[in-house]
Amino acid sequence: MTHFLSILDFSTQELQELLDLSIRLKKLYKSGGRDLCLSGKVLAMLFEKVSLRTRVSFQVAMSDLGGTAIYLKPEDIGIIGKREPAKDMARVFSRYVDGIMARTFSHETLLELARWSTVPVINALSDWSHPCQVMADMMTILEHFGRLEGLTLAYVGDGNNVARSLAEACARFGLRYQIASPKEYMLDDQTLTEAEKARPGTVFTTNKPAEAVRNADIIYTDTWVSMGQEAEKEKRIADFQGFQVNAELLAKAPAHAKIMHCLPAYRGYEITDEVAESKNSIIFDQAENRLHFQRALLKKLLS
Ligand code: CP
Ligand code: NVA
Repeated sequence: MTHFLSILDFSTQELQELLDLSIRLKKLYKSGGRDLCLSGKVLAMLFEKVSLRTRVSFQVAMSDLGGTAIYLKPEDIGIIGKREPAKDMARVFSRYVDGIMARTFSHETLLELARWSTVPVINALSDWSHPCQVMADMMTILEHFGRLEGLTLAYVGDGNNVARSLAEACARFGLRYQIASPKEYMLDDQTLTEAEKARPGTVFTTNKPAEAVRNADIIYTDTWVSMGQEAEKEKRIADFQGFQVNAELLAKAPAHAKIMHCLPAYRGYEITDEVAESKNSIIFDQAENRLHFQRALLKKLLS
């Protein structure tokens, strides 16, 4: 394992080993233990977009492992490649630090950083995918259900970066993925083809939320307006009417279905406050597991 850019770059076994390590380290840290395997190591964190969870959880994870993190905020680096090419930045960073974590607008920027970097590059969200998020999500599902294989995850909303990584993770871990989106916002063909190749029959697409949640063990949603799409906000809100995760939709799902959201959640839009705060909601467990998964990832990549 060199870079961590996409779920499908790894085998089920490699991903399972990362989850096992995440769970082991979570137990260790919860019981007051420490693993200072990254003592003296430095992670550069490059952000073209804002962040709460990703920034703080990576910084805490580095500190937990005895290392240091440098936060470069959007105003510091601007758009990668604007002041100097990504390939130059990657080579300069490689001379200073032991790992690079980047949140970029374009996925191509991440790939370019990885191409030129001699230290591991981690995808901290791009327009294309959000693999750290969905690995924390798989860990959360595993903790709540005791297994992944054979579960049904319904996603209601935009076929975006999070939805795409979920499709890949479901293919790798053997969940059925039922995604309901308005016609214009459906998961792209490339992702559907790759998921089908990874595990035939993983993804079922529909334009009807009720059809997706009918037999779901988990109901997942994300914002209708991702970072960088602010100019489309009004149109998107209009286009996504009928795709809210609310009590009416949950009435059509099994009573045991857990509610997930990567956060930040826009209550009153993709999810109601009532559902986000309901007893079946596990959204804060997901947020917590970002830390536990990334601690394991950093140990694996940087030590
Ligand atoms: N879920 C997530 O990545 O949150 P942030 O944008 O706050 O990092
Ligand atoms: N789809 C959202 C995820 C935020 C964590 C975005 O890209 O803004």
